[in-house]
Amino acid sequence: AAGWKGRDLVKLSDFSTEDVKDILNLSAALKKHLRKRAVPEFAPLAGESLSMIFQKRSTRTRVSTETGMAKLGGQALFLSSEDIQLGTNEALCDTARVLSRFNSCILARVFEHSTIEELAAESSVPIINGLSDSYHPLQALADALTMQEHCGGSLEGKRLSWVGDGNNIIHSLLAVAPRLGMHVSVATPAGYECAEEPLRQGAEYATAAGTELLLTTDPLKAVAGSDFIATDTWVSMGQEDEKASRLAAFSGYQVTEAMAAEGGASNDWAFLHCLPRKPEEVDDAVFYSDRSLVWDEAENRMWTVMAVMLAQLRGGADIPGM
Ligand code: CP
Ligand code: NVA
Repeated sequence: AAGWKGRDLVKLSDFSTEDVKDILNLSAALKKHLRKRAVPEFAPLAGESLSMIFQKRSTRTRVSTETGMAKLGGQALFLSSEDIQLGTNEALCDTARVLSRFNSCILARVFEHSTIEELAAESSVPIINGLSDSYHPLQALADALTMQEHCGGSLEGKRLSWVGDGNNIIHSLLAVAPRLGMHVSVATPAGYECAEEPLRQGAEYATAAGTELLLTTDPLKAVAGSDFIATDTWVSMGQEDEKASRLAAFSGYQVTEAMAAEGGASNDWAFLHCLPRKPEEVDDAVFYSDRSLVWDEAENRMWTVMAVMLAQLRGGADIPGM
């Protein structure tokens, strides 16, 4: 994963298709090597440290990164914006410059995407986007690894269907799925479509790969021929005031067995959700079924962020069996 060395992970479209494949291979190798047991002698990031700035809540991103860094022999520091000077008493660019003097890399979860871009510009160490209002690259990597594992390797010709909000998660999936040879169908209600740039980029990747990118407002059309149906909350962090209008707009978008059957999903379709999940977007029957890959998907957040840190700081690692 030499193409990652020293670079910021702001969004996945900043990386080549080869870079994306490299990071997924490194994630899989780390998982194979470290999952079943502690390997204390494998400490490629010994002496390195990571600051994690959180302007929003997190379970998976925080715990996967903190635990993953420890598994690699390094140290992670959790900084909520309540506890540090950021934004209240100190400009972001000053914080970025100071943290760069202490830490080897910086992960940040922010509201505006421009905050990540500013951190990347001001910091002299690599930045990791731990979710912005526009993108969640770490999640899309974990989702891709989960789908690869489920299919036993290649995703070529498989169809990923998004049924939900045109938000940060699908924006990042659009930068990965077509580049792994997948068809992508996206159903969003009118007014909740994906943003222009990730769509333009996704369409470009699909054209290059010779795959389909289908956009619709009809969930049934989106799940036709689907191998993976994915969704997310209808009310993202920061949108709490819009809850009532969002619940109304997404009526008919709940992922259920009946929806998948009526729309003509493949018989063995699998379900993805980045979590945290609310029952309105997917019913319990699907969410807790054997179709649901959500627990593997959550676990894979750790293996993928470990690969990202290792690639940014070392350009990869020699792992037995890679
Ligand atoms: N999927 C995800 O990013 O979860 P957290 O908000 O718990 O980090
Ligand atoms: N779309 C959600 C993802 C949370 C991991 C949000 O931005 O809140």
